[in-house]
This record gives sequence, structure tokens and C-alpha cells, in this order.
Amino acid sequence: MTPAETTARTVAVSLGDRSYDIMIGPGLIADAGRAIAARLPGARVAIVTDANVAALHLDGLRAGLRAGGVGIGAEVVLPAGEKTKSFGFFESTVEAVIGARLERGDAVVALGGGVIGDLSGFVAGVVRRGMQFVQIPTTLLAQVDSSVGGKTGINSPQGKNLIGVFYQPRLVLADTRSLDTLPEREFRAGYAEVAKYGLIDQPDFFAWLERNWRSVFSGGAERTEAIARSCAAKAAVVARDETETGDRALLNLGHTFGHALEAATAYDGARLIHGEGVAIGMALAHRFSARLNLMSPDDADRVERHLRAVGLPVSLAEVPGGLPDAERLLEFIAQDKKVSRGALTFILTHGLGRAFVARDVPSSEVLAFLRTCLPA
Ligand SMILES: NC(=O)c1ccc[n+]([C@@H]2O[C@H](COP(=O)([O-])OP(=O)(O)OC[C@H]3O[C@@H](n4cnc5c(N)ncnc54)[C@H](O)[C@@H]3O)[C@@H](O)[C@H]2O)c1
Ligand SMILES: [Zn+2]
Repeated sequence: MTPAETTARTVAVSLGDRSYDIMIGPGLIADAGRAIAARLPGARVAIVTDANVAALHLDGLRAGLRAGGVGIGAEVVLPAGEKTKSFGFFESTVEAVIGARLERGDAVVALGGGVIGDLSGFVAGVVRRGMQFVQIPTTLLAQVDSSVGGKTGINSPQGKNLIGVFYQPRLVLADTRSLDTLPEREFRAGYAEVAKYGLIDQPDFFAWLERNWRSVFSGGAERTEAIARSCAAKAAVVARDETETGDRALLNLGHTFGHALEAATAYDGARLIHGEGVAIGMALAHRFSARLNLMSPDDADRVERHLRAVGLPVSLAEVPGGLPDAERLLEFIAQDKKVSRGALTFILTHGLGRAFVARDVPSSEVLAFLRTCLPA
């Protein structure tokens, strides 16, 4: 084992013959070559990344690959941002990988956040009917969420993530030190997803986060621990329900409200980024559950206190630029893809760490609740 591997934690994702490891720890990028060569002997790679990440971490990855004797067939540096998950950049990336004469046994390596991971996984899944795929996630959101579970794809002009495939990587290397360069706001947004795993079904993890979040933000062993527990939580759900027919819906805690807020702010990242919408959404899901007498308001207070402590927004009043009225917000909720046959499906909760899927939530209740949440 290399020095980075000895401090790393490994989370196994159990999916039969598509099982793989997620390694989490400081310095894994410098070790990427050895880790990849151990699993894919003789493979060459195409690195796909974005311009921000390339400036900060591409040299390090090149050196890491070289140290393990892994050849680089192509480097694709795409513009940063959600607009990159498009047909145009999908096509140019596919062409670059094919142009480098990479074969099925060779690997597409995604170095970046969820945008790069989603696009690269889709490329790996379709070029030559499926190449090897390695994720090196560099945002907290990507390390705890998008790199786990095998959802890949791009956006269509009609909506987000409408085109793609389920395609599992062969290895995920989550270098916790790569997050040191992440803007604080992006780190906080990813942290909303970390807290989410506690709120779904691990109250002890949530309590641990309340005590240790400062060290998670500053780096070190607690950061690795929080990411490993998050990956394990998502991996367990994915292993039970790989293609989202049942249980996996719990991962959408806070997301029905959150997606509606993203849509209502026209996906303008200057106003609201995904994790901020999720933080508000989780706070609302707890408030709404308390209003429906499913749980004690004390737990809703506790959730808000923690999210506020780390600097995340928890109320509609905190969305800059104002929001449309309750009726319009309900329309955004109804448009969200988690609405099946007219009934509103929400992830509600019986208390901290006791989330459940509630189908047939009456829209009149949602509307009445939203009216109480909007600033007067
Ligand atoms: N596949 C899934 O299951 C899944 C789950 C959740 C989200 N997603 C997708 O993930 C995407 C969002 O991912 P994201 O939040 O990582 O966004 P992102 O990939 O756009 O990254 C956010 C920003 O951080 C920059 N960045 C990345 N790593 C950095 C680093 N180490 N240092 C400095 N800057 C860095 C990027 O250039 C970008 O500007 C969305 O497209 C969403 O649909 C997918
Ligand atoms: Zn999310």
C-alpha cells in the first residue's frame, strides 16, 4: 500500500459483478496511477475535466498517473458550469476519446465536480458500448452524492438530466485535500447533502455532525469520516435500489422543495445553488411534517439550528431577489419529476433521522403550508 492508501477509508459499493470501491482520503490524486493500474492493468486513460479544476489539479493528476505508469491518451478540458452538460460538449468529448484510439479496456477519468462526472460517465457508458470509468470527484457534492450510484447524463433543452444511462465506475478516488481549493459556498452547499444522510435515517450521524462540523469544514480526519459515512449511506440505498424504483427516493429529502426553488430562481447560481435549495427544502420538509403532526416542532428547530450554524439558508425569506407566490411555487413543485400521476409525493419525516416516502400528499395542504412560509 502507498502512504495515501494507508490513511484512506474504503467504502465498497455492492452491485454484483459491477461492484467497486470508493476510496476516500487526503492525497489520493497523487496516487491515482497506482490505484488505477492495480484495478485496470495496462489501461490508458482520457482525462475529462473543467477549466477551473484543470488549473488547480490537472498537473497533480498527470504526475500521479505517470508515477503509476498509466498512459494519458487524451485530455479534454471543458468550460466550467452546468451548461457543459449538453449535446455539444458530449459530442466533442466522445470524438476526443475515439480520436485518441482508446479501447474498451481503457478508461475515461472524470476529474471535477458533478457536471464533469455526469457527462464523462455518459461518454464512458456509450463509447464502444461501454469503456472503463473512473471518477475523481473534486467537489464535496460530487464526493458524497453524484459520484456514488451510477447516474450519468446530460441536460436537454427541455430539462435537466433527461438524457443518460445508469453506468457504474470501476473506481472512485475522493481526494479530501482537493476540496481545500473549493470555494466556501460550494463546500457548504455540498454539506447540505452530508447532513441529509443523517436526517434520512442516521440520527447518530446528525448528532456527530452537530459536534464535529467545524473539523469537517477545516479538513483532516473528520472530513474523511463525514465523506465516508455519507458514501456508505448512499451506497447502501443504491445497493437496495439501483435504478430508483423504491427506496432510493428517500435520497430526495429536501429536493422537492429545493428543485422548485431552483426553478423559481431560473437556475441562477448567483441567487441559489443546488445545495442551498436542498438546505431550505430540508428545513421546510421538517416544518411541514411538524405541521402535519407527524413529528415534534423541536426536531424541526434542531435541524434549522444546525443548518444555520454552518451558514446555510433555511427559509424562503433568505432567497435573494424574492420568490413568486405560493400558487406559482406549487406549480413548480408539481412540474418536478417526482410527481406521479397527479399525486404529490414528498419525503416527510416522523422526526430526526426518520424520513419516509409520503405519496398522495394533498396539494391544498402544501399550498396552505407555503403561504405560511413566504415572507409577508
Ligand atoms: N449523478 C448523480 O447522481 C448526481 C447527483 C447530484 C447532482 N448531480 C449533478 O451534479 C452537478 C452539480 O455538481 P457540482 O455541485 O459538483 O457542480 P460543478 O461540477 O459545476 O462544480 C461546481 C464548481 O466548482 C468548481 N470546482 C470543482 N472542483 C473544484 C475544486 N476542487 N476547487 C475549486 N473549484 C472546483 C467547478 O469548476 C464549478 O465551477 C449537477 O449537474 C447535478 O445535476 C448528479
Ligand atoms: Zn441533491
